[in-house]
Amino acid sequence: MSPLPEVEAKTYPPLDRLPVHMGIIMDGNGRWAAARGLPRLAGHRAGVENLRRVLRATVEFGIPVLTIYAFSTENWGRPQDEVEGLLGILGHVIDRELGELHQEGVQLRHIGRLEGIPPDLQQKVAHAIDLTKENRRLILNVAFNYSGRAELVDAVQRIIQDGVPAAAVDEEVITRYLYTADLADPDLIIRTSGEMRVSNFLIWQGAYAEYYVTPFYWPDFGKDELYQALAAFSRRERRFGLVPG
Ligand code: IPE
Ligand code: IPE
Ligand code: MG
Repeated sequence: MSPLPEVEAKTYPPLDRLPVHMGIIMDGNGRWAAARGLPRLAGHRAGVENLRRVLRATVEFGIPVLTIYAFSTENWGRPQDEVEGLLGILGHVIDRELGELHQEGVQLRHIGRLEGIPPDLQQKVAHAIDLTKENRRLILNVAFNYSGRAELVDAVQRIIQDGVPAAAVDEEVITRYLYTADLADPDLIIRTSGEMRVSNFLIWQGAYAEYYVTPFYWPDFGKDELYQALAAFSRRERRFGLVPG
């Protein structure tokens, strides 16, 4: 009997430039589900499955820091069953995936207001962060109960609490008081599902990020689509307010 033909792994031409810190606004789970006549939570579950794929691809492409927008402070205003479902999914994902993520060298972090989420989930998140803190292959920053404006409010409150004199407050000080203090600013922010808005994601840090919007709903955004985003990023001319050089 002849052996099964080998499935050829697709190769992606190397790119001149990759982002150091990539952000993803994982949007469109609800519409993905609606298009299939499924409940919204089915879309969120499909979104989690897709996250595994995108994480693997992110590591393979060699991007060291990924921040994903999983739940905004505004998302609390959704129907109660959806909110509870999303909290449940986060807990479930930690239970199910933590071991493998740790083995794969992923360092988990959280940005957002931890105190706003249920205590049992807070404990799971704290445990995941502690377990993986020495890992270096990929920093996976999960924005959950996150809002860029709330982040700035929290920063200003802590600056005042620490007694920093007004004249000493500059951009560097503010950056140090953000949830992302020790991370480079995101250089690429991807949004799925075609929406052309920021929705309160990394509003300070993304000041000079390159934005990439794709019509794919999040559950359908795979490795090929990620490569397309990275290729577009590598072709962008970043000017930072200067004249083209
Ligand atoms: C993104 O998908 C996930 C979260 C906001 C939690 P949506 O749930 O916003 O999906 P759409 O935008 O309604 O399709
Ligand atoms: C942004 O998506 C938040 C997340 C992806 C977690 P939303 O679906 O909540 O944003 P809007 O309502 O379209 O601005
Ligand atoms: Mg949405």
